[in-house]
Amino acid sequence: MADRKAMDEEIRQQFPLVFNHPEIAYLDNSATMQRPSYVLDAMRDFYEEENANPLRGLYDLSMRATEQYENARELVRGFINAKESAEIIFTRNATESLNLVGYSYARTFLKEGDEVLITIMEHHSNLLPWMQAAKEAGAVLRYVECDEYGHISGEAFREQITDRTKIVAMTEISNVLGVRNDVKKFAKIAHEAGAVFVCDGAQSVPHIPVDVQDLDVDFLAFSGHKMGGPMGIGVLYGKRKLLDEMPPFLYGGEMIEYVKRDSATYAELPHKFEAGTVNAAGAVGLGAAIRFYQKIGFGTILEREKYLSRCMMEKLSALPYVHILGSKDPENHHGIYTFTVDGVHPHDIAAILDEDGVDVRAGHHCAQPLMKFMHTLSTTRASVGFYNTEEEIDRLVKSLSTVREKMGIV
Ligand code: ALA
Repeated sequence: MADRKAMDEEIRQQFPLVFNHPEIAYLDNSATMQRPSYVLDAMRDFYEEENANPLRGLYDLSMRATEQYENARELVRGFINAKESAEIIFTRNATESLNLVGYSYARTFLKEGDEVLITIMEHHSNLLPWMQAAKEAGAVLRYVECDEYGHISGEAFREQITDRTKIVAMTEISNVLGVRNDVKKFAKIAHEAGAVFVCDGAQSVPHIPVDVQDLDVDFLAFSGHKMGGPMGIGVLYGKRKLLDEMPPFLYGGEMIEYVKRDSATYAELPHKFEAGTVNAAGAVGLGAAIRFYQKIGFGTILEREKYLSRCMMEKLSALPYVHILGSKDPENHHGIYTFTVDGVHPHDIAAILDEDGVDVRAGHHCAQPLMKFMHTLSTTRASVGFYNTEEEIDRLVKSLSTVREKMGIV
């Protein structure tokens, strides 16, 4: 216990917003994580010492900016174990990464009568790009459903996949249920059916080690800001063979090889997909976030988040009027708990918790089909990061235990 408290303190000291604001119990990490000083310092150093437009200037400062930007790419490559850094495309966020695949891959290769298979638990960012691409191609968007605990069986998946399935898109960890899908297994089935597999790693990459070669996914999307990096930088990993076959997504500066009056040839990977001035400071910040994760170590991160997930399950389950969506096993939640409280609207819950300094998300969590499937419209979600503490979960539970009375129910 003393050890845990010492570790809590040591980690929290490295996150200024967390450390300087003990009045806040920040439990909305699935929406965005707080940033460590390590990331803020790296970005500040970049702007103070190396800022110039990367990939363009032939002067030292620009070349150093380019080096920083490409170093960040290499850090990302190592973090998800891609074969080569050319397979790492910097985007604005996971949403843009998924749209890139939707626009460039799906609109090129999807034909009338083809099928795109997604799951009922996708958040809108891994749903709408496919809905739109399918509509434009005259393809069919299909859903595989989970059970009430959030589990998707191999059987249910096989029932939905056909020889017309060209794209399967699936989240690795649900932003609502916290459940982890067996992406490796589903990617294998998808490949056997001749489909490409797009993995939404927005909620997994920040919380569990993700190895794209081991999972054998064709594409992986994630955001920097959910893992301590800045907002505005995201990643699309894609297998070189597929990225090479895809047309550019955005057109403009630095993604070309040669431009004539009426035609153009395009740059090699990864620059073909990075038009315009890049977010170099964002990439540097994401690179620093990866270094920070490596310093803390996934062993520590997993141990702390598993512990917090167990605390959350135990303490929330003790309140009889709180109903957790999904599994009863904390191992299946990855620190993400979405729940309802008898008789109280989630917006009221979030407002009352906010008065007590507890920050959670309320609403449909950008996953309306899942809400409907779970027979609800709106829920409250508390989600942990590795800097959270058991005391913060106690504050959540204490505040939650007052909401019904405050709303005049008991
Ligand atoms: N997808 C993010 C969430 O779940 C924004 O909150």
